[in-house]
Order: sequence, then C-alpha cells, then structure tokens
Amino acid sequence: MTQKISAAITAVGGFVPEDKLTNFDLEKMVDTNDEWIRTRTGITERRILKGEGLATSDMVVPAVQELCKKRGIDPSEIDALIVGTVTPDMMFPSTANLACHKLGAVNAWGFDLLAACSGFLYSLTTGASLIESGRYKKVVVVGADKMSSIINYEDRATCIIFGDGAGAVLLEPNYEGFGVQDSILKSDGSGGNYLNMRAGGSFRPASIETVTNKEHYAFQEGQAVFKHAVKGMADVSAELLERNQLTGNDIAWLVPHQANKRIIDATADRIGLDASKVMVNIERYGNTTAATIPLCLWEWEKQMQKGDKIVLAAFGGGFTWGATLINWAY
Ligand code: UT7
Repeated sequence: MTQKISAAITAVGGFVPEDKLTNFDLEKMVDTNDEWIRTRTGITERRILKGEGLATSDMVVPAVQELCKKRGIDPSEIDALIVGTVTPDMMFPSTANLACHKLGAVNAWGFDLLAACSGFLYSLTTGASLIESGRYKKVVVVGADKMSSIINYEDRATCIIFGDGAGAVLLEPNYEGFGVQDSILKSDGSGGNYLNMRAGGSFRPASIETVTNKEHYAFQEGQAVFKHAVKGMADVSAELLERNQLTGNDIAWLVPHQANKRIIDATADRIGLDASKVMVNIERYGNTTAATIPLCLWEWEKQMQKGDKIVLAAFGGGFTWGATLINWAY
C-alpha cells in the first residue's frame, strides 16, 4: 500500500535588514505622528534594506542559507524554490532564478509567485503540492519583499505601513500526517483598484508620464482594503476550522498576515482565540507583504511544539486571501 505523503515544514529561516525606520523618523518625513500610527496600526518601526544594488534576492539568500544550516543540508540539495513577492529584483529573470544562482542551488528550478500579501500562502500551497505529488523531496518556499523600493515616502497613507524582510520554510515529505493539512485560497480581481502598483507592467509601461504621475509606487485606499480584510481574513479562517471540524480550542497558534493590528485582533476574536496564541510582530517590522507569515514562524520557531495545530491567514492586494492549517512537524 502506498503511504499518503504530506508536506511538512522541517526548517525555517529569516532575514530582516539592520536599518530601522521608526515612527519618529516618519514624523519628520510626512504629516503623521507616533501615537496615530501605533493606535491605528500597531506599528512602531520597520526595517529598510539600504545599500546600492541590494534587492529582494539579497534577503532571500540569507533566509534560505539559515534554513539550510539549521537542517544540515547544502543548497545543492534543494529541488525547487518558490518566491512569493511583489518586489522582484527585476521583471525577469525571476528572483527565484537569481537567488538560486547566488545560493549555489544548482539543482533547483523555481519561479516567483505574485499574490501580494497572500504570496506566502499561495506559494506554500503550491510548494506543498509538489511534495504531495511525490516528485520532489526538498522544496523551499519564501515570502520576500523589499517594499521600500515601491513606496512613496511622501504618501502617509502607505509609507507608515510597509517594511522589508524575507522568511523561508523548507518542505519535505512526511508519512505520519504532519505538515500542511488543508488550505482555502481565494481571489477577487475586482479589488484591484484599491491596492496596486499601476505602472511598469504591460498595461502602463514605464514612461516619463508614469514616473511623473508617481505610478511606480504602491497605491492603497486604506479604508476600503481594511473593510474587506477584516471580513475576508476572519471568514476564511472560520471556514477552514469548520471544514476541519475544529474550534479555536484546538488551535495552538494563529499566524496572521501583519497588515494592521486591528485586522489581526478581529480574526482572532472571530475564531475564539486568546491573544496569547496569536503571533504578532507588526510593531517591529510593519507590513513586509509576503514575508510577514514566515517571519512570524521564524521568530516563534522554538515555541511551537510537534503536533501543534496552526492556522496561517492572510488578506491582501488582488484581492487575494486565504487560510492554511498546519500540523507542526517538530
Ligand atoms: O497588507 C495588505 C492589505 N492592507 C491592509 O490590510 C491595510 C488596510 N488598511 C489599514 O490598515 C488602514 O486603513 C490604514 C492604517 C491604512 C489607515 O487607517 P484608517 O483608520 O483606515 O484611517 P483613515 O484612512 O480612515 O483616516 C482616518 C483619519 C483621516 O483624517 P480625518 O479625515 O478623520 O480628519 C486621515 O486623513 O486619519 C488621517 N490619516 C492620518 N493621520 C496621521 C490618514 N493617514 C494618516 C497618517 N497619520 N499616516
């Protein structure tokens, strides 16, 4: 009888740049203040990748190197690398290709996956499918964004929120039922008007006009996104629990996308989870888009126990959203 293969996370790596951008720094740049930012978002500071020529792949590389070191493997053993990102180094080749080269992951293929703040969840489901198929043994899934490269630091609606970082997980086959259990992923392109970067693609190729109009920056209609996010992230998390006949009491940890502390609290309330079971590091890193969830796993790695049931949940640009249930493997 063939055994059912599940995709277990067997190591986690992360990277955040050293440079900090605090609320007090932002007070000097735009019309805002520390108190407003903290009470409306929960953010105190974010990390910014500084340095000529440094791009998203330069955060992917140390995150993956850390993960390989922890697991005792060489990058050449990686079969595939998926990078969830909205800030690739360039339009092509993919950040995954460039990172594999820098890592010496000479036997890996890979690609970038664009699903904004849900990029890690979409990538995790994709990577898990590669493992579950039986064809691949070591798949690395990364969420990484250099948001500072697409933020207008004169726009207080966006510059107070976002930061840079990368988080990575290694997926390997498991035959005892640990790993990714279930996932509900959703998308609704009618939300595209509320959160986007209009120019630089085939719709609005770069021109003097697009630069003058500041169309190469992230644009967000905060309130509209907020309303959809509160409902979307809470609903999908509740749906996932119901489908798996679980309640909040069965869940050891909620790992929410870190966009706004108020959205996180609403999701935790909805599935009946105490704040002590919710991973929150938004105060130190802000919203790192695809990196928020793996960066939480990275920081909480030692506190998770084998067999813990963990819900990951995200909502973001697209709109894209979803929730994933994991049975922690170590
Ligand atoms: O990760 C991807 C998905 N993104 C999200 O989930 C983000 C969702 N949205 C949000 O988190 C929130 O909408 C924001 C944090 C972006 C904004 O918070 P808000 O509570 O929705 O603020 P608002 O836009 O409704 O503005 C409230 C007030 C306004 O002033 P008046 O009209 O009440 O006098 C704004 O002009 O706050 C003002 N305001 C600010 N004040 C100081 C807006 N931005 C700022 C600011 N500093 N940075």
